[in-house]
Amino acid sequence: MNVREFLIVLSLNQTKRSIGVFMKLDWSHTVLNIKDKNKILDFYTGTLGFKVSDSGPIYKDGPEIIFISWNPDEHHQLAFVLGREDINSTSLNHISFRADTYDELQEIKDRLDSVNCDYLPLCHGNALSFYFNDPENNGMEIFIDTPWDVEQPQGEVWDPGLDEKSALEWVENTFKDRPGFVLKEKSTKEFVNR
Ligand SMILES: [Fe+2]
Repeated sequence: MNVREFLIVLSLNQTKRSIGVFMKLDWSHTVLNIKDKNKILDFYTGTLGFKVSDSGPIYKDGPEIIFISWNPDEHHQLAFVLGREDINSTSLNHISFRADTYDELQEIKDRLDSVNCDYLPLCHGNALSFYFNDPENNGMEIFIDTPWDVEQPQGEVWDPGLDEKSALEWVENTFKDRPGFVLKEKSTKEFVNR
């Protein structure tokens, strides 16, 4: 091993150590705040060929969210929230990454706790998420998929203090009566997180 190779191995080992458990976060989706629904949908669906995979109020009497995707294995690659006040304000609602396992999601929680970063644990039925802001207030989400699909949008606060089994039982009990609730592999919908 030459000096260069030695330095590469050394830095890889240090990176692994500083990461703690080994994980990778996959890019998942971005959510933008928009002002003009018709113009935006004309462009993304008409011009670019995305399809709308779901839409509805984010919460009771809340603003509408519209999910779009090109990829049948992603429920949404982009989503738009109506209500951008001013075209000069930021359009970013949040960017989102997918973790692989419940342990990795807990690791993210520990890291956020370690820097006193507040987060909202929110469950969409098809995902267990943490929503938080980066140091410049850009919205972020890190989530894992659950075994289920359910019509979107959905959102209930979940308890990250639960172990994995209890968390999944809670998800099933909370969302099983919502429209479209089904095990992902049994879903016949065109766009499902798979
Ligand atoms: Fe999201």
